[in-house]
Amino acid sequence: MTDFPVDRVREQFPALDLTVGGRGVAYFDGPGGTQVPDGVLAAVARYYTERNANRHGAFITSEKTEETIRTGREKMAALLGADPDEIAFGANMTTLNFSLARALGRTLRPGDEVLITDMDHEANRDPWLDLREEGAVVRSVPMRLPECTVDMDELERMLNRRTRIIAIGWASNLSGAVVDLDRVQELARTVDATLVVDAVHYVPHLPADVHAAGCDFLLCSPYKFFGPHLGVLYGRREAFERLPTHRARAQRPTVPEKIETGTANHEGIAGTAAACDFIAGISGDGADLRCDLVCSMQAIAKYEDGLNRRLMRGLSDIDGAVLYGPAEDDRRTPTVSFTLRKRSPREVAQFLGERGIFVGDGHFYALTVVEKLGLAPTGGVVRAGIAPYNTEEEVDALLQGIEDIS
Ligand SMILES: Cc1ncc(COP(=O)(O)O)c(C=O)c1O
Repeated sequence: MTDFPVDRVREQFPALDLTVGGRGVAYFDGPGGTQVPDGVLAAVARYYTERNANRHGAFITSEKTEETIRTGREKMAALLGADPDEIAFGANMTTLNFSLARALGRTLRPGDEVLITDMDHEANRDPWLDLREEGAVVRSVPMRLPECTVDMDELERMLNRRTRIIAIGWASNLSGAVVDLDRVQELARTVDATLVVDAVHYVPHLPADVHAAGCDFLLCSPYKFFGPHLGVLYGRREAFERLPTHRARAQRPTVPEKIETGTANHEGIAGTAAACDFIAGISGDGADLRCDLVCSMQAIAKYEDGLNRRLMRGLSDIDGAVLYGPAEDDRRTPTVSFTLRKRSPREVAQFLGERGIFVGDGHFYALTVVEKLGLAPTGGVVRAGIAPYNTEEEVDALLQGIEDIS
């Protein structure tokens, strides 16, 4: 299909050795969190065996911990096209976004408006909806159905001089729809609104560039791209410097530490750096980390797109299967949500799980999408997400399983 080094990729994931009932396991649950390669496991173990300490100490493990954090920022900056001191770490995207929203909330006056979208994960809705308590007006841009993507014309209509913040997902974790950020950033600029982008579902599948995205803040989660459970916030330097964060008195008031409350997950940061190295190693030649990462993400996107087309075509041939989200030629990630006429999403996921084929079912916190599709009372959707360690054979086994239970 392509020259993507899938065997070399697979060799690095010990979790692929797992079996269920004597069969190898196929992981299509990547949108909930991917599996982890050897390099990440080793980096986490190495942190604990050689570097484990808190910061600011006058001894070697503490110095190495500083270096670990510095390296983590450098590698994440290379992945996103940012500068290292524009990268902050936190418990997860949701927690960081609540901190960000609370801080930006301090800059709003009663009656100022925030735009969110119906397409978004609750992690990029509720932190902003909470600002209503401070007098902000929060409005949600509707989706176009059945593609489940943000209605851009509606977004333009809802924008006005009082719009101070636009918080939008780059890609939907339920439908795979990718938002036209060029248009969003253009619109944000017309009213000088702060643009916050949830890139949790985008970064694992497509090359990301914070400057091309034109955003002030962008969030992602390394556990969705082969790393540990952690969150990352990019803040454009000027916007980040102005951000009035809530912090402890002894905490540094400068970027990026100003939003990093408490002791960080040092081992997670070590693993995140290793996850970036893993990605870079897929197609890179080692000459320049940013180039290697972009090149590898392009290779991942192409490989995943091929598998996604196979999956979507196979699904549309299955009697009783209904697909939600953009068509295969639209801009999308390889994440496919569907229902079967005669089976609940939980029944499908359970049946496949017993065959060692792991898919998600439910709403995945994209609650509003599921509600607007009218699927909340029936258990949401089945979600299958492609990762670079998936193969054509696994896609075929998934399709066969769905056919068998449909
Ligand atoms: C699109 C999207 N945004 C936000 C989140 C929340 O991320 P975290 O689990 O790091 O808080 C998720 C998690 O599934 C997601 O898919």
